[in-house]
Amino acid sequence: MQRNGAGAIAIDGPAAAGKTVVGTRLARKMGYRFLDTGMMYRAATVAALDAGADFDSTDELTRVAEAMDIEARAAADGTTQIVVDGIDITSRLRSHEVDSRVSIVSAIPRVREIMVAAQRKLASHGEIVMVGRDIGTVVLTDADPKIFLTATIETRAKRRYEEMKDRPGQPPLEEVLATMRRRDEIDSSREASPLRPASDAVIVETDEMTVEEVVCKLHDIARGNAS
Ligand code: CDP
Repeated sequence: MQRNGAGAIAIDGPAAAGKTVVGTRLARKMGYRFLDTGMMYRAATVAALDAGADFDSTDELTRVAEAMDIEARAAADGTTQIVVDGIDITSRLRSHEVDSRVSIVSAIPRVREIMVAAQRKLASHGEIVMVGRDIGTVVLTDADPKIFLTATIETRAKRRYEEMKDRPGQPPLEEVLATMRRRDEIDSSREASPLRPASDAVIVETDEMTVEEVVCKLHDIARGNAS
């Protein structure tokens, strides 16, 4: 059996659990590269929107993902850049429109196959923190440690709202909460790689924790001296 993820740290969890901010800081602290895999599914969603694809058509969405040339750069400064067909589209990935459509695209098995192959290639040299939904369960099954970061949906919706509220056209908290509930539901119930903790994952509930506390806890776990 192929081994994937030796020397990697996997962080999974639902939307706005803090995976990106915590993962970036943990990677910096450990001198590892960082890859936010959600950005790759977001990029496929942006490409589908740009192509005017019908989001009810799996075939159309698959064709867009197959045709796009996607490069995820896991930079040494802890950021991820996404380049599609030679253009850096990183700044377009976090709109509410993308939030509300990305789970449709990421539920398609062929789209996942394309992204997972690219993710494994990036992890093949180890020393990487990779965050997503299926990193510990599917993408890097040999990652150690595997972390499942979570918080209640109310906490997570509030975090996402605070993060985006100064952007023009940002919807009210109730709508952010509703979009997130829908996304959690699709991500957890889909057939292809549903969101769930790996059997050997450490579950970290972050409701009552600051970012710094979570980073320290994960750093302890990664160094093998968790209490
Ligand atoms: O930042 P946030 O947690 O809100 O979302 P994200 O990590 O950017 O992921 C966006 C979406 O991509 C998720 O809702 C999933 O549908 C999908 N995703 C996935 O299916 N598998 C991954 N490894 C990462 C993201």
